Amino acid sequence: MATPSVNPRVTLNDGNSIPQVGLGVWQTPAEDTERAVTTALQAGYRHIDTASAYGNEAETGRGLANSGVARQDVFLVTKLWNSDQGYDSTLAAFDASLDRLGVDYLDMYLIHWPMPANNTYVDTFRAFTHLHDQGRVRSIGVSNFAPEHLEALIDATGIVPAVNQIELHPLLPQHELRALHAQLGIATEAWSPLGQGSLLTDPVITGIAEQHGKTAAQVLIRWHMHLGNIVIPKSVNPERIVSNFDVFDFDLSEADMSSIASLETGTRLGPDPRTFNFTG
Ligand code: A2P
Repeated sequence: MATPSVNPRVTLNDGNSIPQVGLGVWQTPAEDTERAVTTALQAGYRHIDTASAYGNEAETGRGLANSGVARQDVFLVTKLWNSDQGYDSTLAAFDASLDRLGVDYLDMYLIHWPMPANNTYVDTFRAFTHLHDQGRVRSIGVSNFAPEHLEALIDATGIVPAVNQIELHPLLPQHELRALHAQLGIATEAWSPLGQGSLLTDPVITGIAEQHGKTAAQVLIRWHMHLGNIVIPKSVNPERIVSNFDVFDFDLSEADMSSIASLETGTRLGPDPRTFNFTG
């Protein structure tokens, strides 16, 4: 496997491209977010992933504004919260997110959860296509969609989301969804890519890390890259933010990839999208 020297970009089905490694700010407290985002951008990250529900969009926007990196050089993603699903409420929620972020367009907007009990994700996505047509969001996608939600969305709108951002790590490698995404032309994006930190002390991961002279987090991020996943590790710690981006100078072997594959248990760390209908 060839080693890229810079953060590769993943081409999306709409022709846009997204830097493969980004900074995620889920569970980053608002008071730490501005510094985390600025640190990341100054370290070379060009992709930041937040959400209305994280309560840190304003701080994310401030981190971007204070980083010295130009807005057009950063791929900025946020997500529509569950209680805002529906056509008109989506348009209002989008405006509110842009206001908080202090920007006048988004690189990507995602439906955070399908919320199947509400059955509003199709109307929500129609509002996304309107925002896309207006040029206010460049790419539109979804998060936590199961195969039946993707199929229903595509059947109803004729539009294939650019991305599905799902829980994905070695315990839950999501073979079925990754294969479906490949077939449909949807990019796979991994949330909780480090297993929320739980995999960082796994002896298989630390053993591989030792062999390569890298950290456990770097090995996990590289594993995602080898699978073609877009990956958004979270950290509030400046040294870790920097070191999580130092992943472009080594390769995992086939044997490393097989050892990591043996960690699969099917364990979910987050909610099951088929039953998660929380609007709080
Ligand atoms: P912290 O924010 O204190 O650095 P995930 O992205 O899978 O949700 O994992 C995030 C968790 O992993 C957080 O608890 C984060 O803690 C921790 N983490 C992220 N990067 C590293 C790293 N390089 N070394 C140790 N822990 C890390």
